[in-house]
Amino acid sequence: MENLRINSIERKNEVVISIDGKNIIAYEGESLLSVMIASGIKTLRKSSVLKEPRGGLCGMGVCYDCLVIINGVSQRACMSYVKNGMEIKTDA
Ligand code: FES
Repeated sequence: MENLRINSIERKNEVVISIDGKNIIAYEGESLLSVMIASGIKTLRKSSVLKEPRGGLCGMGVCYDCLVIINGVSQRACMSYVKNGMEIKTDA
């Protein structure tokens, strides 16, 4: 799995989340969208009509292109902080 994080940044405690059944290392304080991008996951869902790939666009809660299922609830990845044991499903 890719890791596009900047190594020189000091991070908080490590947590493990599951994205589409794969365990991913993340760090407390990171948004889910940043973890997904850092892990090379860019397509989060498909558009409802044309089924085209969608990923985070604005990163600040406006576009809703980052909707994923977090612990069974549809939420914006950019507005969600990772927590240990979080289970995420994409519609990609
Ligand atoms: S990236 Fe736009 S709402 Fe999350």
